[in-house]
Amino acid sequence: MQPKTAQLKIDDKEYSLPIITGTEGERAIDMRNLRKDTGHICYDQGYGNTGSCESTITYLDGDNGVLRHRGYPIEQLAMFSNYVETAYLVIYGELPNSKQRKAFGHLLREHSAIETQMQRIFDGFPKNAPAMGMLTSIVSSLAAYYPELATNNFEKDLEHFDLAAPMAISKIRTIVAMIYRYRHGLPFIHPRDLPFADNFLHLMFSDPYVAYVPVPEVTNALNLLLLLHADHEQNCSTSTVRMVASSGANLFTSISAGICALSGPLHGGANSAVMHMLQSIHDEGDDGTRFIAAAKSGSKSNRLMGFGHAVYRNYDPRARIIGTACDKLLTRLGKSDPLLDIAKNLEHAALNDEYFLSRKLYPNVDFYSGLIMRALGIPTDIFTVMFAIGRCPGWIANWKEVATNAKGRIYRPRQIYIGAVKRDYVPMDKRG
Ligand code: ACO
Repeated sequence: MQPKTAQLKIDDKEYSLPIITGTEGERAIDMRNLRKDTGHICYDQGYGNTGSCESTITYLDGDNGVLRHRGYPIEQLAMFSNYVETAYLVIYGELPNSKQRKAFGHLLREHSAIETQMQRIFDGFPKNAPAMGMLTSIVSSLAAYYPELATNNFEKDLEHFDLAAPMAISKIRTIVAMIYRYRHGLPFIHPRDLPFADNFLHLMFSDPYVAYVPVPEVTNALNLLLLLHADHEQNCSTSTVRMVASSGANLFTSISAGICALSGPLHGGANSAVMHMLQSIHDEGDDGTRFIAAAKSGSKSNRLMGFGHAVYRNYDPRARIIGTACDKLLTRLGKSDPLLDIAKNLEHAALNDEYFLSRKLYPNVDFYSGLIMRALGIPTDIFTVMFAIGRCPGWIANWKEVATNAKGRIYRPRQIYIGAVKRDYVPMDKRG
């Protein structure tokens, strides 16, 4: 029988704190009244051991390498579902029936275009503007272009949620393709009446006279890549979305904040860092052996990118799926990639090396996601914005949880102040 309360003793006073248990048996000590009852706050730098919310969306067990959305194992979703269906599941909590799936797909197709006035935003950017910088600005402008869907009033915004959610996913997909074309000096292409992933490939690779012809292997690999990024519990960008939403902010603005958080190299930027690492190993004529030796030095600048994770102490289940898919895709397309061979050497060496084993460092999703994007013809400079398309359903579902939580409060952590104690203002002529 598990205890229902935890006892906390401060000096000679004892406090009883309730224990909360999740549906998968995760246990937490409820600290909400700690300050009121004891005058103390919890100190947990970076919130690494803090449950900031209760959520019904995603279950993650990092020690055992388990990831489930709405109860469904990621392995099953990867095998049987596709990105759009999984997006619906993550957002609405249940797999869609055929009518719901059709209606959701219809909204995605209907709202895929970017209006002419909004397209003019692109001209304000230099041709070499970083893709993530462009994406954050353009996505935050959705709140200005569609103010009726983004009122910063939860009640009203929720009335329009069934439109705003697919609109955000579809438009962000189109914006990403436009960013690619803008940066590469290509004219914008109008979306077509195609399934989600094929429409993206058309927006990227068609030219005004020759339409992109869908290749099933490529479509399936893209669907898988996006599906595997659909949600990942309270990561940095999702927590940011929830934090911004907790102030009452609308869906588009909250998503745009999430994209800002995704841009850092420790979060969404790791996929391109992996590719740069593999390329430099290749260019130096190393098969990975020298790099592995350097990665064990403990220096942050030599880390084996795509290895280790803030919560997984086991194989990231997404990495396993994507690694196998990458192999299959290259075989089906009759291609080979020397960088994939280096990645496999690195993985094999690290998984047999005491340094990595004892620290529980295993491949994370980014170890192979860049390689699959490369096989799809997606250039490294837009890898992180691709991640943003994939993660949209998770951000949307988390925004909705905040917006519908009647007992929710604004996210407002506290701090331990360690600065100067009170002192009196010193006039300029006395400052020395
Ligand atoms: N290569 C070599 N050594 C590593 C690596 C790595 N990739 N990651 C961690 N270590 C070592 C550290 O040097 C440390 O060693 P020590 O105990 O001798 O000091 C030990 O492992 C623990 O490292 P921490 O930094 O405490 O691990 P933490 O869990 O805080 O960091 C992180 C996780 C940031 C992901 C880290 O593993 C890393 O930098 N990995 C490479 C970057 C990467 O792939 N990021 C993508 C994450 S997935 C995502 O966001 C989608």
